[in-house]
Amino acid sequence: MVIGLLALTSIPTVTGVAFGVSEQRKSNQRKEDARRLAKFNIDVECDGETDDDRDVNGRRLVVRNDKIYLDHPNPTDRSIPAFTALAFYIEYPELDETKHLDRGLGLPTYVSANPPLLNWIFADENTHELKYGNRTQSVAHIVGPWDWTEDERVITLEGSKNFVAVEESEGEWALYFDGDGDECGAILEEQGKLDCAFVPVRMVRRPAEEPPPPPQQSSGQAEGEGQGKSG
Ligand SMILES: *[C@@H]1O[C@H](CO)[C@@H](O)[C@H](O)[C@H]1NC(C)=O
Repeated sequence: MVIGLLALTSIPTVTGVAFGVSEQRKSNQRKEDARRLAKFNIDVECDGETDDDRDVNGRRLVVRNDKIYLDHPNPTDRSIPAFTALAFYIEYPELDETKHLDRGLGLPTYVSANPPLLNWIFADENTHELKYGNRTQSVAHIVGPWDWTEDERVITLEGSKNFVAVEESEGEWALYFDGDGDECGAILEEQGKLDCAFVPVRMVRRPAEEPPPPPQQSSGQAEGEGQGKSG
């Protein structure tokens, strides 16, 4: 399911707390919800010093063709046009059949601005490629729990910070989930991709600028320039 922008206004109640908690806890919960809903871009970081490491370090997550790729932060520097991922955290809406999995927070991203469409970021269960899609397309895959480290900077999936950038073709880096802690060795071998360059990376949150607030209806004196002066 694609969530429309309008649906967002009702989101904070989704994680509403159970009856019986103190007002203080409710208030803390509301602050936590608001922080989880804050929008962010996602960049990758790595520690190495090879040419590939330098090439990948600082690239930004973008969405195209149902997959997550890593490209230049500045859209005009990209050779293949792609929409920049703009994500936040919210409870993944499990189906009745998957409720028992209780995968917690999902990671939705905008996949287009006009119209504003949201999809879920997930790791393909079989290939560990990071992809995006609606609930129908994502529910059978690794949709969460997504979380952040204590400093709220690094993104985790199933408690792991480990992802791997894979150069699937010249200059085209895709992102994989390293859930097994082997730098995706086994999963890439299965797919015949061991010859591709790869770089272990972390996904880092980059808080997005909030759009400017809508113009306020002036309630006091109107001091607009260009107004005809009558005196
Ligand atoms: C999910 O996406 C697929 C492929 O784009 C589409 O065919 C399907 O109708 C979508 N499902 C919902 C519930 O929007």
